[in-house]
Amino acid sequence: MATKKKFYEMSRKERLAYLKNKAKLSDGDIDAILSPLSFGAANQMIENAIGTISIPIGIATNFVINGQERLIPMAIEEPSVIAAASKAAGIAKKTGGFTAEAKRSLMIGQIQVVSVPDPVSAKRKILDGRNKSDLLAVANSKGRSVSALDISVREMQDSSPNKMGHMMVVELVADTKDAMGANAINTMCEAIAPKIQELAGEGSNVVLKILSNYATRRLARCKAVFAKDDIGGGEVVKRILYAYALAYSDTYRAVTHNKGIMNGIDAVALATGQDFRAIEAGAHAYASRDGTYRSLTRWQMTEDGDLAGEIELPLAVGIVGGIVSVNPMAKVALKIMGVKNASELAMTMAATGLAQNLAAIRALASEGIQKGHMALHARNIAVMAGAKGKQVELVSRRIASEGAVTVSRAKEVLSALRKK
Ligand code: MEV
Repeated sequence: MATKKKFYEMSRKERLAYLKNKAKLSDGDIDAILSPLSFGAANQMIENAIGTISIPIGIATNFVINGQERLIPMAIEEPSVIAAASKAAGIAKKTGGFTAEAKRSLMIGQIQVVSVPDPVSAKRKILDGRNKSDLLAVANSKGRSVSALDISVREMQDSSPNKMGHMMVVELVADTKDAMGANAINTMCEAIAPKIQELAGEGSNVVLKILSNYATRRLARCKAVFAKDDIGGGEVVKRILYAYALAYSDTYRAVTHNKGIMNGIDAVALATGQDFRAIEAGAHAYASRDGTYRSLTRWQMTEDGDLAGEIELPLAVGIVGGIVSVNPMAKVALKIMGVKNASELAMTMAATGLAQNLAAIRALASEGIQKGHMALHARNIAVMAGAKGKQVELVSRRIASEGAVTVSRAKEVLSALRKK
């Protein structure tokens, strides 16, 4: 009996057929995968458009998150990332997969008020029950499916060299549900700004009205256990803990450690049409929440000597609105993932980040990162040299083993192969 092919062993046609069946994709969905974003669409999305740039999109496999299998589309130009995530997910699967949570989609909007004549009285007025509910009612009149829930006030002094003095920041919290919510929050902030300026007293001035990308009320968490025997044994577990020690203690390492995590998270963000700049900015601020930039993951040894990992970060993501509604590929990516709401997307992204981190630090703590990288790089070089089908494997293996991963050497190997 023929054994079932693994996803990476399939041809593109077979992969699409597999996805069609597994994720119940329509012919239209398959067309969206096959055809890049049109210039017409691009020209409507941004100004002065001249075209689009393509980035490969692939599928990470083996993920089980909260008991559910998920195929994860990732858009990324870097080799190894998808293979690494899939491998780590396969290891986690053996101990029950990833356990994740992401609560309500609470976003924060900020209204900056300066030159407030009497901050104590201004704060009291804004937070007064009646005024506060009026403000929330105005915000909610703009909300459609987003609901404004609360208003708070923070006071601060300008600490920049310009010393602009005292400022009040009124913060609006709203549940943006399945949307990322930037537009809704910005609209709400602008709508309540005039009343806030009035309540803050004669002479006060509203300057900024904008959401905060530091989405600390929208955290996603994920954990998993990786059995020691599947990651190289007790010594590797110990070396991973040393790797984590450096990422926790040293900013130079923490940035690279977190870059690896974001390899996974950004790739899912890009594939599903998220605002990855917002996610990046929020993630790195969160990594510095105690005043020092640290690892976004935590690693420790379990009583059995296995490796337990956890990640926690703000993930403001949406499955409705924004680019998701304009780019057909993003919609198909969400369908492949099978996420039904923004929380499920956030949990999936957190799991991808954790898997990516395990894969990177496991490789770094054992054989080093270049071995796997070079093997995959060699494949790209073989393809660039003109190798097709089985030739790719033969040429790449040869040039990688020779340590001569160049197009010219790949061409020589290829031509020798063709003469045989
Ligand atoms: C490369 O894109 C990512 C890594 O540098 C991450 C890390 O060092 O942990 C391998």
